[in-house]
Amino acid sequence: MQYTTEKIRNMFLEFFKKKNHQIVCSSPLIPNKNCNLLFTNAGMNQFQDYFLGKKTYPFSQVATAQRCLRTGGKHNDFQEVGYSEYHNTFFEMLGNFSFGAYSKKEAILYAWELLTDKKWFNISKKKLFVTVYYKDHETYNIWNKIIQLSTDNIIKIYDKKNQKYESDNFWQMGDIGPCGPCTEIFFKKKNNINNLYNLDDKKQCIEIWNIVFIQFNKINNNEVIPLKIMSVDTGMGLERIASVLQNVESNYQTDVFKKIIKNICNINHLITTHNKSLNVIADHIRAAVFIIQEKIIPSHEGRGYILRKIIRRALFHGKKIGIKKTFLYKLVDCIIPPVIKNNQILDNKKYYIINILKEEELQFNITLNNGLKFLQKTIKQLKKNYIHHKTIFYLYDTLGFPIELTQDICRDYNIQIDQKQLDEFILQKKNNNNYNKKNTVNNIIYTNFKSKFCGYKKYETIAIVNKIFINNHETSKILKNETGVIILDKTPFFGESGGQIGDTGIIYHNSIFNVHDTKNFMNATGHLGTLSSGKIQLYDTVFAQIDKKKRLRIQNNHTTTHLLHSALKKILKYPIEQKGSFINDKYLRFDFTYPKTIQSREIFNIENIINKNIQKNIIIKNKTIDFQKAKQKGYIFLKNKIYKSKIRTLSIHNVSKEICKGTHVKQTGEIGIAKICSYKSIAFGIKRIEMITGITALHKIQEKEKKIYDIQDTLNSDYLSLIHKIKKIINYCETIKQENNFLNQIIITSYKKKLINKIIKINQINFIMHQVNIHNTKSIKLLIKELIKKICPGIIILFYQYNKKYIFVIGVTKNLVFKIQATHIIKIINKYIKSTGGGKPELAQCTSENIVDTMKIKTYLQDWIKSTILYI
Ligand code: ALA
Repeated sequence: MQYTTEKIRNMFLEFFKKKNHQIVCSSPLIPNKNCNLLFTNAGMNQFQDYFLGKKTYPFSQVATAQRCLRTGGKHNDFQEVGYSEYHNTFFEMLGNFSFGAYSKKEAILYAWELLTDKKWFNISKKKLFVTVYYKDHETYNIWNKIIQLSTDNIIKIYDKKNQKYESDNFWQMGDIGPCGPCTEIFFKKKNNINNLYNLDDKKQCIEIWNIVFIQFNKINNNEVIPLKIMSVDTGMGLERIASVLQNVESNYQTDVFKKIIKNICNINHLITTHNKSLNVIADHIRAAVFIIQEKIIPSHEGRGYILRKIIRRALFHGKKIGIKKTFLYKLVDCIIPPVIKNNQILDNKKYYIINILKEEELQFNITLNNGLKFLQKTIKQLKKNYIHHKTIFYLYDTLGFPIELTQDICRDYNIQIDQKQLDEFILQKKNNNNYNKKNTVNNIIYTNFKSKFCGYKKYETIAIVNKIFINNHETSKILKNETGVIILDKTPFFGESGGQIGDTGIIYHNSIFNVHDTKNFMNATGHLGTLSSGKIQLYDTVFAQIDKKKRLRIQNNHTTTHLLHSALKKILKYPIEQKGSFINDKYLRFDFTYPKTIQSREIFNIENIINKNIQKNIIIKNKTIDFQKAKQKGYIFLKNKIYKSKIRTLSIHNVSKEICKGTHVKQTGEIGIAKICSYKSIAFGIKRIEMITGITALHKIQEKEKKIYDIQDTLNSDYLSLIHKIKKIINYCETIKQENNFLNQIIITSYKKKLINKIIKINQINFIMHQVNIHNTKSIKLLIKELIKKICPGIIILFYQYNKKYIFVIGVTKNLVFKIQATHIIKIINKYIKSTGGGKPELAQCTSENIVDTMKIKTYLQDWIKSTILYI
């Protein structure tokens, strides 16, 4: 019988339908609010409350094919995915459930019948063995006495390190929730397995079905309470059982994955279909499609972050197998069709999914390239096969390069990471950040006090100290070197709001309080700062003075934000919607909805309109009116913000009308000049523009101009002929490159002939070790690849000397790598020299900084091969 994945799913459901189970649809991948999981991780999630007895389900026996995702939390296999044959992030879990309807015996009998009966999956009974929780004698006896499984084939599993309930055979949904002992059914891939206790060896056997007897509710780390009724929760990975019934070595060789992998290979014209990176991509694109269809978009936190991690790992592996162009979105087509029957909605969302993947891919390519460059350089310079955790953190924190990718790359190069140290360091950094925040920003203050803001017109004022807070507690004075929050009866300081940062400045009389930020606490304006001299007490009369220069720059940027908003609408001819803004003294940032790519000519036009409006020196007017009235009059407001009944409006005549309480210039001419310094897409359909104004913009323009002068000087060219000159140089380089390739080919051909004559035969293995006069590792690798075709089975080591260094490139034919890998040879060479390097099983390289006795190494290697590899 042809067991396609689809057929297996249908047979499973049909079997349980025949056994009076109600077939229930898969629940969404995003669990409901009550569940403490990011993603559905098991078939039983949707029934959580019924297991716990909080609700009664309309049916007491059900079966499902549940979409699941496991990338974090208790059931986390993320780093394994692609490398291990049987792990997937996204998978379907076939499950039958009973809410008090049947016993352990019936659950086991059902599973056994479906797996072994000729009418169903017809797996030989000899091929199966089971595990049971060591205390669950009832289950042990059912397997032994009723199913008649020999005691050799029933393995008792104990608690780990005597930790109560921490056992592979005590299943728990998460840190809390339904749980209970379980019995797992394993499939033996080989007939004679010596030691069934070595269950981790996936080459020998795989777990196919887990039957959990939900008897407890876990309420905290080490406490479980018994439930009134025992329920049954089972789970069989569809992809795994498909691998068994299709008689293949891995989930990735089943019909579903074969199709995706074939598509990836077609995109990149790859011939091999056996590559771990292909597995990773195939798995991850499937997961990404199913997550995106649940309306999750890539982001830096929560579910969006998991999605981003998945997409990025897939992209990285795409890069690894040489895919240069955007490709992930092209795979959506081969994932969606098989699911259409089960999920019509997916088809409608195809276009949406494709767009999200494209956007994320374009964005990440930049990060990926920067990170890879840095990491590769670092790896080259490593003295030992160990990378420091601070380097990994730098890559992650500063360059945005995901830690998982660094881990993947290090695994390929055989480079060690101290995971424990890394985890501790990340934790320490996180705590430091919180510590800093706590100490500098006293941001939880409760007060009914109302301060008056006079900062629209004034930059300084006399005021009375009305409240003082230290460590969020109200107090009557603040002393030298103390940090706290001061609230005045009136203030020119603007409290951070509407995207505009808070003012800085000083509060003084015979003391100085340096205000480093201003925030609003209900109706009170809090000045956050440190007292550098004297003391300030409640009801003191003080001077409050903002940093005027800084404020003027902030104002420039804020008014420019309004000019930008209106220019965008005009040029893009699209009802853009503001999605966020940030305005400080250095730049402004504006996020907005816009589904298409913004062209560079449109950017110039936007800049032109803004600057024309600056030149017109338009007077800016403000008025406090009713919110409803402002809406009627067409003032722009943010849809998801709650406004008071009286609001401040701001209008730039004939250009912009917005509700805004920020501070602005009086006339647009004050801004001087405005320049867009970056524009990009930050999420699907959301764009971000950053601008600079006034003297900052002028400095940026000058800086760019200086760079152009420098380039002119370097190229000895003038401005007008600069592009022409650069093109000429590029063409020249291209010609040289081609000539170089041509010459290299000649050298390679001549070496090929020469080196074939140098073969030494050792126990059927062709061995060549020779110095070459090619000072270019890439060409040597090409030469080795050519030679390898001719000398199978063989080991080739070519080396050259350069600046006192010795560079060795090692090639091993494919049929030998199970005996010896190129990277092993580096280790052997390292008995004589101190070299650094790495690579892949078939091709590796290493460099020694010292003079090397190559003859000695050669003799040693010959002897080693002779005594170690006796036959192949
Ligand atoms: N809930 C059980 C599991 O996920 C069946 O393995």
